[in-house]
Amino acid sequence: MILAIETSCDDTCAAVTEGGRIRSNVISSQAAAHARFGGVVPEVASRHHLELVNPVIDAALAEAEVELTDLDSLAVTRGPGLIGALLVGVATAKAIAAATRKPLAGVGHLHGHVAANFLEPDPLEPPFLCLIASGGHTLLAAVRGHDGFEILGQTLDDAAGEALDKGARLLELGYPGGPAIERVAVEGDPESFAFPVGMTRDPGLDFSFSGLKTALLYEIRDLDASELDRRRADLAAGYQAAVVGQLTAKLERALGSGEWRAVALGGGVAANSLLRKRTAEIGAERGLRLKLVPDELCTDNAAMIASAARYLEPALYPDYLTWDAVA
Ligand code: KG4
Ligand code: ZN
Repeated sequence: MILAIETSCDDTCAAVTEGGRIRSNVISSQAAAHARFGGVVPEVASRHHLELVNPVIDAALAEAEVELTDLDSLAVTRGPGLIGALLVGVATAKAIAAATRKPLAGVGHLHGHVAANFLEPDPLEPPFLCLIASGGHTLLAAVRGHDGFEILGQTLDDAAGEALDKGARLLELGYPGGPAIERVAVEGDPESFAFPVGMTRDPGLDFSFSGLKTALLYEIRDLDASELDRRRADLAAGYQAAVVGQLTAKLERALGSGEWRAVALGGGVAANSLLRKRTAEIGAERGLRLKLVPDELCTDNAAMIASAARYLEPALYPDYLTWDAVA
């Protein structure tokens, strides 16, 4: 039985898992607090975490119907993320673990996104190829065991989710941008603007989204306010298609090695319907096992941190008291 805490960005999360089964997975999203800034303001996030972390943990324990004394260990995201936000989770986890003399595992946030695929029901066993696309990261992970992964390629500039968030801001669609673009794109024609699908001529497995973002900026600059209103759905559809197009082009390239029998997604952008549909098609064409976790396990959550912790050796009291967060 593990209690996990995740506060790396703008979601305050706590979860209790028993083996690979989720007993509770509480997420308090701060999206509304950051919406008017068009993105996450780190200091605002830290202060909200400080207010929310104890009630969120209480809710996770209550929903799981467990007391602190029932836990075998605790787990916490140590990084990467916003340093002030991470510190709230790390300090809280250290305090609870120390007060109850329980072991504590420090988990890498990206390992958590990969480990969401190990949760019940239908846990995916390594080896598999996992595309992680979130607000902070975009990478292809070779997952050959439960305790880590190898990065095969990653973004050279913006993350896919960051590109969607910045694109949504240019399109005046609000924050978080990924879901906002997805909603509007349904009404649009993805072919009516020719956005560049970055890095496809690059022979490697790295990604780049900064050129795409600039392309959107220039398209919008050429439109007056009423034209922008009229073409917003087409712009959103084209922009989303270019982001997903690059992600799936690199995924296909990585699958071309022939090493993989299973493919999975992780990170907030993995909640995107177009990405899920295209990945399912790619998996079906190649006869691969496909794992698409539900949306609430794609975006940040603590169940995925508990899932990763199951395969790590936790530190014993008092060894973790010297731990710091890692930005
Ligand atoms: O994994 P996550 O919750 O936090 C980070 O670790 O960054 O990912 C958040 C990102 C945001 O950029 C958000 O716009 C994007 O995931 N996102 C989506 C969708 N839902 C969240 N992007 C595209 N389509 C979605 N449905
Ligand atoms: Zn994340």
